[in-house]
Amino acid sequence: MLTLARENQRKAGVANIEFLKGEIENIPLPNNSVDVIISNCVINLSTDKDEVIREAFRVLKPGGRFAVSDVVMRGDVPQQIRQSMLLWVGCIAGALRDYDYVAKLAKAGFESINIEPTRVFNIEDVHEFLGSADLDVGAIASQMEGKLVSAFVRATKPTSASSSSML
Ligand SMILES: C[S@@+](CC[C@H](N)C(=O)[O-])C[C@H]1O[C@@H](n2cnc3c(N)ncnc32)[C@H](O)[C@@H]1O
Repeated sequence: MLTLARENQRKAGVANIEFLKGEIENIPLPNNSVDVIISNCVINLSTDKDEVIREAFRVLKPGGRFAVSDVVMRGDVPQQIRQSMLLWVGCIAGALRDYDYVAKLAKAGFESINIEPTRVFNIEDVHEFLGSADLDVGAIASQMEGKLVSAFVRATKPTSASSSSML
C-alpha cells in the first residue's frame, strides 16, 4: 500500500504529503495533532477495535473529525460467519455491529456519531462473498440478506477534549 501510495504521489507530482508506516492500534503521531482521520475498509480487520478508536481519539485535535468508510453489520449474524478466517480477511467477519460501533465511539469520548449506509449487500452479493468460504452457503446466505452494509462512519472529538499524555 505504501509503495502504491508513493508511486501515485510521484505520478501526481504532489510534494506536501508524507506517508508513515504504522498500525491503527498504535498510531505513530502525537496527541491532538490531526484534523481528520479517513480510512477505507481497514478498521474491520483489526482484532482490537477499542484500541483503534482510542488511538483515533488521542491523535485528533479537539474538534477533529473521524470520517471513515467501513463494512458494518446490522444486527446479529450467524456464529459461523464470525468464526471464518477467510471472511475475516475479506473484511466481513470482523465487521462491527452498527450499535457496537456507536457504543465504542461514544465510550472513547466522540460526539455527533453517525453511521450512513452507502450500500446494502443483497442475497446475490452475500452468495458471492460466502462462495469462497468453507460454509453451508445456502443456509447462511438468507440470514445475511440486508445485514451487511458499506457505510460512512462519522464522529467528532469534542472541542473541549484535549488528550493529555499518560505519565
Ligand atoms: C482492505 S485493504 C484497504 C486498503 C485501502 N484503504 C483501499 O481502500 O484500497 C486493508 C489495508 O489495511 C492494512 N491493515 C490491516 N490491518 C491493519 C492495522 N492493524 N494497522 C494498519 N493497517 C492495517 C492492510 O495491510 C491493507 O493494506
